[in-house]
Amino acid sequence: MSGRIPKQFIDDLLARIDIVDLIDSHVPLKKTGANYVARCPFHSEKSPSFSVNRSKQFFHCFGCGASGNAIGFLMDYNHLDFIEAIEDLATFAGVEAIRETANYKATPQKKENIAEQYQLLEQVAIFYEDCLRTHEAGKNAVSYLKSRQVDHGLAKAFMLGYAPDEWQVLAKKFDQNKLIEAGLLVKNDGKVYDRFRGRLMFPIRDKRGRIVGFGGRVLDNSLPKYLNSPETSVFHKSKEVYGLFELLKKDPKPKRILIVEGYMDVIALSGSGIDYAVATLGTATSQSHLELLFRYTSELILCFDGDNAGQSAAWRAISSVFPVLKSGRQIRIMILPEKHDPDSLAKEEGQESFTQRIKAAQALSEYFFDYFTKDLKLAEYENRSMLREEAEEYLKKLPLGPFRELMFDELSRLYQRHILDQEAILAYNREVKQHRQKSNRLSLASCVMALLIQNPQLIDKIENKIIDWDYLHFEGINKFKDILTTLMNERPANFGILLESYRGHPDEIIIKKLAAVEFPEENIEKVFFDTISRLFAEASTARLNDLLEKDKNLGLTKAEKAVLLELLTKKHSNAI
Ligand code: UTP
Ligand code: MN
Repeated sequence: MSGRIPKQFIDDLLARIDIVDLIDSHVPLKKTGANYVARCPFHSEKSPSFSVNRSKQFFHCFGCGASGNAIGFLMDYNHLDFIEAIEDLATFAGVEAIRETANYKATPQKKENIAEQYQLLEQVAIFYEDCLRTHEAGKNAVSYLKSRQVDHGLAKAFMLGYAPDEWQVLAKKFDQNKLIEAGLLVKNDGKVYDRFRGRLMFPIRDKRGRIVGFGGRVLDNSLPKYLNSPETSVFHKSKEVYGLFELLKKDPKPKRILIVEGYMDVIALSGSGIDYAVATLGTATSQSHLELLFRYTSELILCFDGDNAGQSAAWRAISSVFPVLKSGRQIRIMILPEKHDPDSLAKEEGQESFTQRIKAAQALSEYFFDYFTKDLKLAEYENRSMLREEAEEYLKKLPLGPFRELMFDELSRLYQRHILDQEAILAYNREVKQHRQKSNRLSLASCVMALLIQNPQLIDKIENKIIDWDYLHFEGINKFKDILTTLMNERPANFGILLESYRGHPDEIIIKKLAAVEFPEENIEKVFFDTISRLFAEASTARLNDLLEKDKNLGLTKAEKAVLLELLTKKHSNAI
């Protein structure tokens, strides 16, 4: 988290705001008892199962399981990343977000630079757009666009522009250092010149509409056909896709999103009425791309050209795809007929046929097994097992869950041999077991943990009691100790703040589940002490029985004997 926003700032911010006010300003809430409730904004439902709790500073939906603190709410509700959510929350609280760098003093400077970069990129895009309409050579660009059936409205929607074919148009017009930082100026042998010259310009906008970079296409057959902005502090090719802002403007919750390869594909598809396509920026589809797009839709269609390059790109994409396939997300693969790209095909066939193709795109599972069985038929017997191992490697990347199970089942059916993906089955069973335990009745230890994290001030009460943890034996003791340590070190004012310490932590989900457990609001301290006393009694008894058992079978060490004696005489000395 270094180089980001200081933890202290986030904690203070969370302490300053009230999650009830925040959520109420997005989703009107109704008070019932200790909770404020509404129909869940994250899934559709008739009666409310979404609740917000002021003392925990936590929201939770028992319908779909969505949960989190104020930051989590903004991330999920407004499709923001972590930093953006904090920025918005700071605005809500009326404070400015500070960034943390190695050199703390340099921070304000840095932030300004970023804001200036966005500003400059915007000005340049407007300038290029102007050139398309007013510059003498812009006419060539306009007629090129016409030849590709891009009309005025389409050009405007994508803010297309033209970079005049001169060495120093931008260099003379804007601050050179800023241009260099924004990747628009190239420095060579002490000379500087514009990166983009004589090109049709495609501004690349992030999901909030800020221009982060450009692509530029020649107007003839010269090479390189496209030039792209280099990576800068605001432009990361593996994280951005072309056309997302334009798409969301038309429909913030598209049913599906099509991922294509080219700038012109996105524009041409939009021109043909298929305005839910985005393009990667000359790179392979990455996991970040997929995660980004799954924030807006549950179905992605990866579209590849029909040539060999397209076919192998499709197969390569598979390894990014598998790890993001949580349940509720769908990916399909669409391979176009040879010699076509989406642009040419949509123009040739029209919207309706192209849409039919999208609907008929292969489910990922089908594509995956087709690929393997195709090779299988040809494979020598010895190669078959290698192929199976390869397939398994892919499937192991799938998140645990029913889809993974089905895929493994299908693979074993295919090879007519039973494959036990031991790791997966064990983990799955563990999950099921955990789930059941929780939904049946919480263990005493979980109850104590839940009470503690929901009421972090209770830590003050038990801190002064001398507790000899080594006496205790119960499932989850280490987790318990972790939580205690975190609470003692951080002293969070409420659960929402504590939750920040678990963002991205393996225990995050468990912590959220414990936070969602409902306790009566009154006498929380008494409930806590009763529960913890029962836990200690139970744990000492378990320890006592263990020792007695060991004494019978193996004998005890000196230290163990001492413990046993103590347990027998001062029975439950730990009870509070
Ligand atoms: P294509 O050559 O398929 O692009 O390359 P396109 O959009 O269909 O272009 P047209 O139809 O010929 O105008 C796909 C993508 O690969 C990247 C660009 O992002 C392009 O949109 N690319 C391609 C480059 O970065 N540089 C190149 O020289 C070529
Ligand atoms: Mn093309």
